[in-house]
Formats: sequence, C-alpha cells, structure tokens
Amino acid sequence: MAGAGEGIALRFEGIHKSFGSHHVLRGLDLAIPTGQLAVIIGRSGTGKSVTLKHAMGLLQPDAGHVWVGDQDVTTLGGDAMRKLRLRFGMVFQHAALFDSMDVYQNVSFPLREHTKLDEPAIEARVREVLGLVGLSGAIRKLPSELSGGMKKRVGLARALVHTPEFLLYDEPTTGLDPILTAQIDKLILETQRGHPGMTSVVVSHDMGGAFAIADHIYMLHEGRIVASGDPEWFQTTDDPMVRQFVEGRLDGPIAVE
Ligand SMILES: Nc1ncnc2c1ncn2[C@@H]1O[C@H](COP(=O)(O)OP(=O)(O)O)[C@@H](O)[C@H]1O
Ligand SMILES: [Mg+2]
Repeated sequence: MAGAGEGIALRFEGIHKSFGSHHVLRGLDLAIPTGQLAVIIGRSGTGKSVTLKHAMGLLQPDAGHVWVGDQDVTTLGGDAMRKLRLRFGMVFQHAALFDSMDVYQNVSFPLREHTKLDEPAIEARVREVLGLVGLSGAIRKLPSELSGGMKKRVGLARALVHTPEFLLYDEPTTGLDPILTAQIDKLILETQRGHPGMTSVVVSHDMGGAFAIADHIYMLHEGRIVASGDPEWFQTTDDPMVRQFVEGRLDGPIAVE
C-alpha cells in the first residue's frame, strides 16, 4: 500500500518487532481513522508502549510499514523524521516534566524548540492551553508543588501546546485514584472533541476508562490486534478473549502464568 489510505490517519501494516529473542509485535495490523479517539487495550507487557513508539519513529520495526498519512515512517531520516515528530504530542505515563522548570517553562518548551513565536505569542498560547486543562492558577508553580493529577494535566498541556495532529497517551490514568482517573478521562475526551481533526490514541489497561472515552477500542494480545469494535460491542460480545480481559477472569483463552 502507498499511504495510510483514504480517511486513515495512522496505519500499522504487518509490523514485527523483536528485542533479542523476545518477539513482541507479531504482524500488527491497525488502521486508525482521522479524528478518532482510539483506545488500545491489552495486558501489561504486551507491546502497547512499543506500538506507540513506532507511530512516531522512536522505534523502527524489523518488518512492515507505519504510515502517517502518505508518509512511510520506516523510510524517514534526519530532517523528515524531526518534522514528522512535530505532528505528534505525547503524554507520558509519568508526566516527565522538567523538575527545575515551572509550569510556564515546561509547557512553553515545545514552542521554544520548534517555532519562531515571540514571547507574547508564546505566553498567550501557554495561557490558553493551561485554561483548557484547568491550571491557569498554577502557571508559576514548580512540579514539586503540584499534585499527581496536576502534573498529568501539565503533561497534557505540554503535548497539546503546538496543536499536534496526533495526541498519544501512554497509560494516562494508571496509578491515579478513581476520581482523578475520571477527571483525566474527561479531559482526554474534551480535548478530542475540541479538536475534531486531531486523532487521539490512548494506550491503557483500564477498561472502564476505555468504555467511557473511546470511539473505537482495539485489543492487542501477543503482538497482534485480536479484537476491535466500539465500546458497546466490547461490552456485549461473546468473544471469549474479550470477555476474559474485560471481566478480569483467570480462566479463558488468555494464558495466565
Ligand atoms: N527498548 C527495549 N528493549 C528491550 N525490551 C523492550 C524494550 N521496549 C520494550 N521491551 C519489551 O517489550 C515488551 C512490551 O513492552 P511494552 O510495549 O512496554 O508493554 P506494555 O504493553 O505494558 O506497554 C516487554 O516485555 C518489554 O520488556
Ligand atoms: Mg506501556
């Protein structure tokens, strides 16, 4: 195939990836339409983070192609790769903020690195995104002065500040309490709804969150997508693998060591 295809923002085509003798991705095929809020679920260690890293060219596959629109990520180098990465915002599992920088400096960092905006324009944009994530009052605070949920929101503001086409979230709610989880899920949903042309990919093993926010859920198991459907389908299907995962059962087709 040349290009991701009509209406498809991101396509993984026959991806294989091993680390040493550990064959992680085993022919991954996945096509995410433009404007979708996609949630990829799967067990810990199944290759969710590895999949996200392939989208941005942070990892290269051993075989297969990754298409971002009409660009084959596996062929890009140097300048083209840098340009490609600018089309992405990434929210890391641990907020990964710069501890010595305040919220303003953290969130403005991508604009300073990648744009020629002057300081007033940078400040206006930072204030705008901090407003979106409900942190206008924290602009001069250091990460050490913030709660876990606030740090997550700063991470989201930083990923969003340059208005990327793709927003990738790696386990955005893992380790948060249920109320904070609901707050972050709501923010992910509002962010997607506020940017209809943006494509969001959330990696998670939180089924409740997936049901609450996803347009479409993809289940990754043993390096392939084994089930895919909207939240209603996932809640009602008899597919034994999906039922086992959704209900957290020990018995079923998914082997439990
Ligand atoms: N850079 C790496 N080097 C070696 N092994 C890796 C590397 N990145 C990931 N792995 C392995 O690949 C598997 C999938 O990892 P990952 O995608 O992080 O899982 P998860 O689904 O929990 O996000 C794990 O067994 C992990 O140890
Ligand atoms: Mg992971």
